[in-house]
Amino acid sequence: MAETDTEQELDLTEGSDRHRDVVSRHRPDRIESVEEQDRSITFVTENQVELIIRLVTPEIFQLTYYLEGDVRSDFSYAIDPEFESPEFNYSVKQEDKHYVIETSSLRATVSKEKLLVDFYDKDGNVLCEDEDGFYRRESLMKGISELKVTKKAPRGVRYFGLGDKAVDVDLRGRAYENWNTDSYAYERGEDPLYRSIPFYLALIEDRAYGIFLDNTYRTRFSFDRQKDRVSSFNARGGVMNYYFIYGPKLKEVTERYTKLTGTPEMPPMWALGYHQCRWSYYPEARVRELADTFREKKIPCDAIYLDIDYMDEYRVFTWNKKLFPDAKKMISDLREQGFRTIVMIDPGVKMDKDYFVFQEGMDQDFFCKRPDGETVIAPVWPSKCVFPDFTQPDVRDWWADLYKPLVDDLEMGGIWNDMNEPAVFEVKRKTFPNDIRHDYDGHPCSHKKAHNIYGMQMARASLKGIKKHAPDRRPFLLTRANFSGGQRYAALWTGDNIATWDHLRLANEQCQRLSISGYSFVGSDVGGFVKKPDGELLARWMQLSVFHPLFRNHSMGYNVDGAAAVKKDQVELQKRNTENDQEPWCFGKKFTEINREAVNLRYRLLNYLYTAFYSYINEGTPVLKPLAYEDQGDSTAAMQNDAFLFGDDILVSPVVSKDKTVVTTYLPKGKWYHYWDDMIFEGGKTYDISAPLERIPFFVREGTVLPLREVMQYTDEKDPDVLELNVYHSASSKTSRLYEDGEEGWDYKNGEYRLTNFSYDPDEINQKTVLSASREGSYEPGYESVEITFIGLPFKPATANVDGKEKDVEIDDSETVKVCRVNVASGFEEIILS
Ligand code: GLC
Repeated sequence: MAETDTEQELDLTEGSDRHRDVVSRHRPDRIESVEEQDRSITFVTENQVELIIRLVTPEIFQLTYYLEGDVRSDFSYAIDPEFESPEFNYSVKQEDKHYVIETSSLRATVSKEKLLVDFYDKDGNVLCEDEDGFYRRESLMKGISELKVTKKAPRGVRYFGLGDKAVDVDLRGRAYENWNTDSYAYERGEDPLYRSIPFYLALIEDRAYGIFLDNTYRTRFSFDRQKDRVSSFNARGGVMNYYFIYGPKLKEVTERYTKLTGTPEMPPMWALGYHQCRWSYYPEARVRELADTFREKKIPCDAIYLDIDYMDEYRVFTWNKKLFPDAKKMISDLREQGFRTIVMIDPGVKMDKDYFVFQEGMDQDFFCKRPDGETVIAPVWPSKCVFPDFTQPDVRDWWADLYKPLVDDLEMGGIWNDMNEPAVFEVKRKTFPNDIRHDYDGHPCSHKKAHNIYGMQMARASLKGIKKHAPDRRPFLLTRANFSGGQRYAALWTGDNIATWDHLRLANEQCQRLSISGYSFVGSDVGGFVKKPDGELLARWMQLSVFHPLFRNHSMGYNVDGAAAVKKDQVELQKRNTENDQEPWCFGKKFTEINREAVNLRYRLLNYLYTAFYSYINEGTPVLKPLAYEDQGDSTAAMQNDAFLFGDDILVSPVVSKDKTVVTTYLPKGKWYHYWDDMIFEGGKTYDISAPLERIPFFVREGTVLPLREVMQYTDEKDPDVLELNVYHSASSKTSRLYEDGEEGWDYKNGEYRLTNFSYDPDEINQKTVLSASREGSYEPGYESVEITFIGLPFKPATANVDGKEKDVEIDDSETVKVCRVNVASGFEEIILS
């Protein structure tokens, strides 16, 4: 029997001889039985703790612990329903003190005495050992208060991931909580933030593994916090259900976790362009002025956002007709100019008997309720709101259909879901009480369990609506709150940050961390949401965000309550306070120029970023990676917080401090070309790199074929005439990829895409080099020719043989780097330079 501890707290004041509460603590003892079925091995101890180890793949084991009386369910919002477990071989053996489970990659031992689980690689190297293993504490009055697994945290092990934590890259030495929280103006170290991703990675020497705790309750992760070499994860309820994910590479761990919890579909190319946002752009004339300014100033931009003030007194799915008398015309005119419009939708529905969303939701009983059936009413933007229970399928279908007028009739480019932690104003707790009820897709539960997935299910419902009502277009949805697996539904931004240099550093760290936690479509409010940046801070933030998948400038600026302003008739554009503007042109000519160049650079790199998305979507490869991902055996690389990898072959060393025009950067092994001057740097060393205000240092890996796109004012302005390829010479062979498709619509799913595999094969001894291209898919890009620039050649080629025909080459004869240019047709297969 499990140890039962009747807490010896007698309430003498009441003269009762009963206990205040009765606590029981459970730790497994000796294994009594073992059963094996369909890749699941079930261990039951004498005190009736049950551990099921399910072998998901040769590298992923799922561990679930039950006690007698627990309700069993394998329902999970996080796991991708399309994830399929392959067939593979494994063995289960009994040894003296353990049971041993082995696949081709991973070995787990389960101790007979205490049900402790240890993991090893196939050569017998330790990966991860239980310290105390499983523990559960519960009480009669409060239910489960601790559901925990304790593991060893040997010296030197580094911890990464955990989604969105505002700290440096290595998580060691602290504990972190997961509880989606509206964190306006958060600071470094503040925790928890807006979203919960209970997945971390650990690096032990050069072997990596990950742990994903698939539990939606409030969870806590501790990494040697008390310097006792112990790590643990802990949930406030539910079932201890975690996945052990082996690498051995960090990249493989992220990829496996990402495939398990899913990836989105290819975004439309425009969503990777530059976005301009503000709380709030109104009235219509102001939006038009903004659009015109982008075009006049020739700063590329693909999307403009309307924040809450476009609504009629914060009623979601309505328009303030005074501010936006003809939204359809405005959106269509903006589209003509090349802009997509994106509008905000919050979860809180204004309580108003004359408002259709409120009426429909009430009639169908779709709003969240208290245990005794009262509707939950709480203040957010409208002072009284009710909240759809997005965990109910019918509610999601209803919500999805509310989008029809926006996405079908108005052809809205995208949707922005905010406040979906869910955020509640005026109470310290910032959200619902724990006892609010949710359907949880037919597994009714309290808010304790549903809180962390509320935003995720809102995003899911919104995505469903956008796709249903604009079936031919690729959706773009942005969300603030989310949970593991929610990357399938929406891009996200890091919330209400501040215009400070430390926040620029944080944006860099948070985006890297989210990306290696399976969430690559991320960005921060460029320039800072709260307060105003100066020209230098904005410029450096713009430059960093060229390399963030979501590139959106947003601020609270001078926000006047739009609805109140309308009432007071104060909406004339002329009276607008411009004091807090942070659009790219607001800091004088010099900075306008610098910001334009940053955005231009983003548009140059779009094909490369799109290809990185292809790898993310198909292979789960993170778009942003800390340098530990480049060479995990290199402890100097693992310690870098600022420099990071963008896609597979670009290393970025951003400037994240004021008045700095030199960055000190470590480059991992191999040769790296400085993009701006083609200087070659030998890796394994630290360098001081010049970083004048005009440019962010970044490096291209030797051997890379880097696609560069013509700069346009918006992504689908026209078909490009040419594609440029920069080929960075290396002494050894290397492959690169380029993914292309229609950039909108779904034809790519029917084979209309083009995946080019480049192979660069030099032969320095014979002063020759070969670039070959093989292609898959039926897509034909709009450009006809390709301009290839070979950089860093150690010899001067006399001729180029392109698919069997001699061609002229153009040679630059600079002292340091030899550059050679060739123009070829877009379908070229082989170029030999000799
Ligand atoms: C929240 C959002 C912010 C938005 C504001 C008004 O603070 O995080 O991005 O501008 O609400 O809707």
